[in-house]
Amino acid sequence: FLSPSKGVTSGNNFKIIGAVGDIPKDSVIPFRSGKFYLVRLPDGGFMALSLACTHLGCSIHWNAEDKRFICPCHSSEFDMHGEVLNAPAPRPLDQYPVVIENGMIKVETTKPLKRNKSDKLDITYA
Ligand code: FES
Repeated sequence: FLSPSKGVTSGNNFKIIGAVGDIPKDSVIPFRSGKFYLVRLPDGGFMALSLACTHLGCSIHWNAEDKRFICPCHSSEFDMHGEVLNAPAPRPLDQYPVVIENGMIKVETTKPLKRNKSDKLDITYA
């Protein structure tokens, strides 16, 4: 599975998103310009999940109370890792590669990576 190694960011499109210390654990922050949500899992790991529902591409919303992403178009739901909780979404949310360098979170925002139900999660740790 495509997973950039820590420290390999030269010559590509990684953008600095923020400092690791500024993002609380167990939080989800929208970066609409980058078309993704930055997810910090309860264990401190980071994921950048595409805003686009994998059904027909509507923008999903994070429901903090229920801890799930909800698609307003046909009610697909995804958990904090982007895994499908409710169809019709056929597969997990796409991910953007994340690396952490010198305490800064960087996300490659040009090309989301598709994943299938069986793909292992791509989680980046500081
Ligand atoms: Fe999201 Fe249809 S586009 S459920």
